[in-house]
Amino acid sequence: MNALTPKAIVAALNRYIVGQDDAKRAVAIAIRNRWRRQQLPDGIRDEVGPKNILMMGPTGVGKTEIARRLASLVGAPFVKVEATKYTEVGYHGRDVESMVRDLLDRAIDMVRAEQTEVVRTEGERRTEESLLDLLMPPVDMPGEQDADAADRRQRSREKMRKRLQEGELEDTSVEISVKQKVMPQGVFAAGVDSLDPDMQGFLEKLMPSQSKRRRVPLREARKVIFDQHCEGLIDEEKVIEMAIQRTENSGLIFVDEIDKLCSSDRQGGPDVSRQGVQRDLLPIVEGSQVSCRQGLVRTDHILFIAAGAFHGTSPSDLMPELQGRFPIRVELTDLTRDDFLRILTEPENALTKQQIALMATEGVKLDFTADSVEAMAELAATVNNTTQNIGARRLHTIMEKVMDDLSFEADEKSGDAVNVDRAYVMDRLKDVAADEDLSRFIL
Ligand SMILES: Nc1ncnc2c1ncn2[C@@H]1O[C@H](COP(=O)(O)OP(=O)(O)OP(=O)(O)O)[C@@H](O)[C@H]1O
Ligand SMILES: [Mg+2]
Repeated sequence: MNALTPKAIVAALNRYIVGQDDAKRAVAIAIRNRWRRQQLPDGIRDEVGPKNILMMGPTGVGKTEIARRLASLVGAPFVKVEATKYTEVGYHGRDVESMVRDLLDRAIDMVRAEQTEVVRTEGERRTEESLLDLLMPPVDMPGEQDADAADRRQRSREKMRKRLQEGELEDTSVEISVKQKVMPQGVFAAGVDSLDPDMQGFLEKLMPSQSKRRRVPLREARKVIFDQHCEGLIDEEKVIEMAIQRTENSGLIFVDEIDKLCSSDRQGGPDVSRQGVQRDLLPIVEGSQVSCRQGLVRTDHILFIAAGAFHGTSPSDLMPELQGRFPIRVELTDLTRDDFLRILTEPENALTKQQIALMATEGVKLDFTADSVEAMAELAATVNNTTQNIGARRLHTIMEKVMDDLSFEADEKSGDAVNVDRAYVMDRLKDVAADEDLSRFIL
């Protein structure tokens, strides 16, 4: 976390997202401020609240992408939720507080993974002993009491250990006992998956766990046994305590599609549920306590980043209280032809790179000339202008269309080199691009 300076965060985001500098800056500062707050002395630390961010911008310009990349970057518990998921509470939606529970679950996973590293050496040592026990069960033979026999056994155990360490026994099948939660047939069996995860967790706790013996290859047994030993070595209460603390102090919740909570026509009616979600969000964003299975979580210092296209609506259509909870507003800009050009080639997951890699699996050496990428970028800009502006998503449809024939036949072209140039692109797209109605359907 210490190394995550605002500039480092922006640089990391730059590897995947073109432009949108304001948004990158804002999230970078917000994340850094979390860290700064952590360094403060107790008294003042509690006073520094997070400054939640609202990202606005047309569809397909990188809002969700920024969130996704941020997620893999920050070493903090992070969840991304769609606001629309909560609009159907009472039917089959989830209650808004569950986002905090998900965040805590994420934090618990993180802390547990860290603690596993702490006890790894001891866990592995114990696992090795258990595996040896499985491979040569300690037999109680009468007459083996004497020192000689014990010595022999010890020697062969060491021999076995050596073979184990050298990886010779990975495929040997051994019998282990695994704990399993048994769901009683009938009552729950049908609908468990459709239940709210919180409810599921609750039910699972009620279920008796049964040990079952199974024969598995040693390589799998090692994992199971290692986990079992770690369970014994890790103090679960401490894990939860640390996780709650981390959730409260560095948790980050990304609420996507928040604009979908605005009522587009101001007439009420079917919008009760959207209004309801806004109202439910308020206390969480403002700071309250959410009760989770593992304990109470305060949300005062959780950072919220919300995003929405606000197409035909504006942040002022949100409840005034909620607007005030997102003081930092950043606007993402429309993408231009030049942006498209860069998006096609620069990011680490650029579409051209993806296609080249895909074709390589068939033995086809694909290449895009500079003018082919220009042609695609121009087309994307044109079609976005003439039909509907769907941002960078347009590039996906164009790329698919360009690659269509080759994708279908690539397996027969192993060993070929295919050069995609401007003519190749135009050849596949000019009819469609020229006809507005057609491009509405196809691109
Ligand atoms: N600035 C950008 N740089 C690189 N790729 C981008 C950029 N903007 C969008 N993309 C690509 O376009 C696709 C859609 O982007 P994204 O999901 O971020 O849109 P969004 O802004 O969340 O739109 P919506 O409002 O519809 O949810 C993704 O595949 C993403 O990689
Ligand atoms: Mg999105």
